[in-house]
Parts: sequence; structure tokens; C-alpha cells
Amino acid sequence: MDRLVYLDNNATTMVAPEVVEEMMPFLTTRYGNPSSIHSFGGEVGIDVEKARHRVAEFIGADNDYEIVFTGTGTESDNMALLGSLAYYRDKRHIITSRVEHPAILSLCKKLERDGYRITYVPVDREGILDMDYFMDAVDDDTAVVSIMYANNETGVINPVSEIGAFLRDRGIPFHVDAVQAAGKIPIDVNSIHCDLLTLSGHKFHGPKGIGVLYVRRGTRIRPVLIGGHQERGRRPGTENVPGIVGIGRAAELAGTHVDYYGTGVKKMRDMLEKGILEKFSNAHLNGSPGNRVPNTTNIGFDYIEGESILLYLNEKGIAASSGSACSSGSLEPSHVLRAMGVPFTSAHGSIRFSLSRFITEDDISYVLSVLPGVVERLLELSPYWDNINRTGKPVNI
Ligand SMILES: Cc1ncc(COP(=O)(O)O)c(C=O)c1O
Repeated sequence: MDRLVYLDNNATTMVAPEVVEEMMPFLTTRYGNPSSIHSFGGEVGIDVEKARHRVAEFIGADNDYEIVFTGTGTESDNMALLGSLAYYRDKRHIITSRVEHPAILSLCKKLERDGYRITYVPVDREGILDMDYFMDAVDDDTAVVSIMYANNETGVINPVSEIGAFLRDRGIPFHVDAVQAAGKIPIDVNSIHCDLLTLSGHKFHGPKGIGVLYVRRGTRIRPVLIGGHQERGRRPGTENVPGIVGIGRAAELAGTHVDYYGTGVKKMRDMLEKGILEKFSNAHLNGSPGNRVPNTTNIGFDYIEGESILLYLNEKGIAASSGSACSSGSLEPSHVLRAMGVPFTSAHGSIRFSLSRFITEDDISYVLSVLPGVVERLLELSPYWDNINRTGKPVNI
């Protein structure tokens, strides 16, 4: 295969060469433990603090010690919720949305089984959160609210600043899962008014296996892991120094490239989206056209299977992902598209294309040249499409 076009950057990203370069010494010669007294370890500790500072700057934190390094975005999400519940023991209500990542949603389902009351705020057909429903749900028993900044499948952005201001006035802790916003739109914890915020290194050209939980000074939260004194006791365990150095550099780079996401990356995303929607009468956009991170488009192709499109694209060196993929392997379409009320016929043929700053216009032209052959081939095989052609009527599925 001569050509590779990677359009699955919401799943994971390439580690930027500058990040690899900065991590390398910590995988080879500089292997000291930051907690050690000798200079071998102590000097490494300086690099950990440099990384903490870079991440703090990236999200506008007031103090470097508001940054806690964790193992993944999933761990940060769990720590935000479980750590808050462990402090507010007498409160039994959590508010989240129906379209969160499983790192929040599956945890909430578990907490529900444990006796907590969970409000899952609905979204509309464009994936926009129902703010009236949210505000009505807040009560004296609410321990914590967790709402994602941007959705991983559709890219739709939630009104986090509005939610943050509402909760701040009521003294309720607010956690924002910003894993899919980082690097794509500017993040400022003070304008969001959040108390807790999650990042994951591998989503913005950093390494895998390193996450961040921002904890605003004064936020009441208890550690979830119990052990040593690392991260001021908030997240014990010997620091993943290469990962921490990597996420620090990745955060710094992401800060310098974020404007390009709003211009260059957006232009290419729009070129791809327009090219597809104009070409295929059976294609529809899933998610709000205007209110999305600039790298993501999720398109439903009526009457054909998303997985089949992906396999054919893969043969041509194009990597994307399917909105209908389900981790359990069942035929259920994604919970996000279902929450939005996307029809079954379209949800099953939904494809997420997620770009990065490494994509070129030439890559997009290549994808647009390959797609017609793929879609037409699958439509020819589709019994639903055949039925429409013969009877002129859509089928009821
Ligand atoms: C919105 C969101 N939250 C959390 C996560 C989990 O992050 P990690 O892969 O670092 O555990 C992801 C990963 O896809 C995500 O998209």
C-alpha cells in the first residue's frame, strides 16, 4: 500500500517527533526515581515539575500543583467522580449526560447499582445538551456533575462555561472530561469555572498511558488509590517520568498549534464533509454543523454498513472509525447516535473521520477520490437500497 491517510485521531494520535525526542533520555539514561535523595533521581524531579508547569499553562491553571498526573484519561475520570463521592459521603446524586465516554458512563451505571441516583441529561437531534433538563436536575443531594467538553464521536461541544457558572453559584463540584477538546480548541479552566478537568496525553500527540486530573485549589476530593506520597498523596505510585515529560511537551506544542486547528484543520474537515454530502444523496451529517471541534465529522450513510465502508477504506490505506461500532460486538448502534435519535438505517452506516495537523489537502482529495467507488459498491449490495430503487419507497426497518 503506497498511501496511508490516518483519519482516526479521536481514537489516538501519532506521538509528535518533538515529544519523542524529549522523552528519549528518560527511557534510556535518565531513569532515576524522582523521589530519590541522590541527584540521579532529584534531577529527574525537576523535569517532572517542568512538565507540570507546561500542562498548567496549557489549560490556564493558576497553580502548578493543581495538576495531578494519572495513568490515563479513564483513571482521571474515575478519580474525579469517586474522589468527590468519597468526600461528600452524605450526598447520593450525580449528574452526567447520555453521551459521555464509557469512562464516565459505565462508572455511573456501576454507581447506580451501588445505590446512587444518576441523572443522565439528554441531548437533541444535533447532540446539544438539554440545559433546562440539566438545571432542573440539580438539587441539594447533588455530589458532583460530570459533563464532557467535546464528544468523541460527533465532536459536538457542550456549554461547559454556562454549566460551570451555574454550579459555582451553588457550590457543587464540576468535572469536565476535556479529553477530546484538548489541542482542538483553547481550554481555560477559569472561564469554564470547573473544579476538576481530565486530559489524556495520547489524544494530543503525546504518549499513551499518561493522564491529567486538574484539581482546582480548595476542591474537596479524596484519593482513590492508596499508597505512597507521590503527587502530594493525591495519586500514589512511582511517577511515569517519560510519560509525564511527554505530555508536558505535547501540551506545549498543542498550545502553539491550536489556532491552526480552528483554521487549517477546520478547512480540510469542511472540504471532506462538503465533498461527501454533495456527492452522496444517502449521506447525512451527525451532530451540530456549527458547534463542533474543528477536526471531527461524523457522517451517516443510509442503507450500508459502517464496518464494510471501513474495511474497503482500509484496503486503500485510509483509517477512520465507525459510529456504529459497539465494544460488545452486538448490532446496537452507538449510544451517542441513539441518544441523538439518529435513525437506525443511518446510525449503522455512520463513519467518524477525525483529522490532525499532520493531514494535508492532498490526503483529503485522495479520500474523496476513493469514497465513491466504496459507497457505490456497497449500495449495489444493499437489499434496502435495492428495494428503494425498485419500489421508490424507503423500507421500514
Ligand atoms: C471523551 C473521552 N474521555 C475519556 C477517554 C479515555 O481516555 P484514555 O484512553 O486515556 O483512558 C476517551 C478516550 O477515547 C475519550 O474520548
